Amino acid sequence: MPSIKDYNVTSGDHIELVEGEIYSICSCGKSEKLPFCDGSHTEKAPDYKSIKVEIKRGGKAQIY
Ligand code: FES
Repeated sequence: MPSIKDYNVTSGDHIELVEGEIYSICSCGKSEKLPFCDGSHTEKAPDYKSIKVEIKRGGKAQIY
């Protein structure tokens, strides 16, 4: 799984998603690395979990 440290994205940026990789997407809104989960939910929003997304076809995605 790619490390979230590989990304420093802001709204409007494009990122390359790698086919076959699994990404953890934040569902709580507390991550410092949105849209990716950085584990902050464990302390700040324990009722939430990240959403695992497997990329079926690689390519660029725009972050909003
Ligand atoms: S930090 Fe939000 S779900 Fe993990």
